[in-house]
Amino acid sequence: MGKRRTTIHDLRTMKEKGRKIAMVTSYDYTSAKILDGVGIPLLLVGDSLGMVMLGHDSTLRVTLDMVIHHSAAVARGAHKAMIVIDLPFATYSASDLPLSLSTARRAIAEGKAQAVKIEGGRRMAPVVGTLVASGIPVMGHIGLTPQSIHMIGGFRVQGKSDEAAERLMLAAKALEKAGAFAIVLELVPAPLAKRISAELTIPTIGIGAGPHCDGQVQVFHDMMGLFEDFVPKHAKRYANVAQAIRDGAAAYLEDVVEGRFPGKEHSVDLEEIAAGSGPKTEPKSNSTG
Ligand code: KIV
Repeated sequence: MGKRRTTIHDLRTMKEKGRKIAMVTSYDYTSAKILDGVGIPLLLVGDSLGMVMLGHDSTLRVTLDMVIHHSAAVARGAHKAMIVIDLPFATYSASDLPLSLSTARRAIAEGKAQAVKIEGGRRMAPVVGTLVASGIPVMGHIGLTPQSIHMIGGFRVQGKSDEAAERLMLAAKALEKAGAFAIVLELVPAPLAKRISAELTIPTIGIGAGPHCDGQVQVFHDMMGLFEDFVPKHAKRYANVAQAIRDGAAAYLEDVVEGRFPGKEHSVDLEEIAAGSGPKTEPKSNSTG
C-alpha cells in the first residue's frame, strides 16, 4: 500500500488479486497512529467501544456522539487507513431513511471517517441504497449483529440451518446489490462464509467466520490482550498489553513509594535551565486538523 489513503477501489482490487485484507478496531489517536504506521489498511471505529473503552455490558448503550468523538480522534492519528465508523443502535432504520441519512452525514462530517458500517440483512438494503446514492460508502454487517442481540437471543453462531444459511446468502447479495462496498460476516460457519465470499464481487471481512473470507477484523483490545473481562473464541492474542501495563504500574508504584522516582534526570534544575540544557517538555506538533 502506498502513501495515500486506502479506497474502496483498493479493497475490490485486493479481493480480485486474492490479497487478504486486515482490519482492526481503533478508538483513539494513539492506537490509530500505531496501527496506521504498520500499514493496516482498514480501521473500524466499532461500537464495541461501548464495552472495551467505556465498560458497558453491550453495544446498545453507544450513542452517535460517542462514536463521533472517538472517530475524530482516530482520524487525527490515521492518514493512510480507510476509517469506517459504526452507526450505533437505533440511529438508522429502513423505516426512517431521513434519520439514517442525517446520522450517516454527521458520522462522516464530524467523525471524519470515510465510510459507515450498518448492521442487518435484506431489510437494510434501502438504507444502504439511500446512503450510497448520497455518496456515503457503506459496509454491511451480517451474521451475529450485536445491536439486535435481544432479537437474536444471545451471542451465538448464525446461519447453522440450511434455511438460515440461505437467508444470510440472500442478505449478502441484497446488500451488495444495494451498493455496499464490503460486508462483515460475524460468527458464521466457515463453509458458509466461503460460499458467500465466492459469490460476491465485493470483499467479505470475517470475524469468527473462518479463513476463507477476503479479510479479517479483530477487536484491538482482544488481540492485544488489553480487555480481560472475557476473550471471544475467535480472537487471537498478539500481545499481552494488560500485563505490560500491570508490570509498569507496579514498578512505578514501588519507585514512588521507595523514593526512587523522580530521579535527577526527571527534575528541573535551575542551573541547567539557565545554561539552556534543561528538560524539553514541549509536545511535538501534531499536523492533523
Ligand atoms: O463494533 C465492532 O467492533 C464490530 C466488529 C466486531 C466487526 O462491529
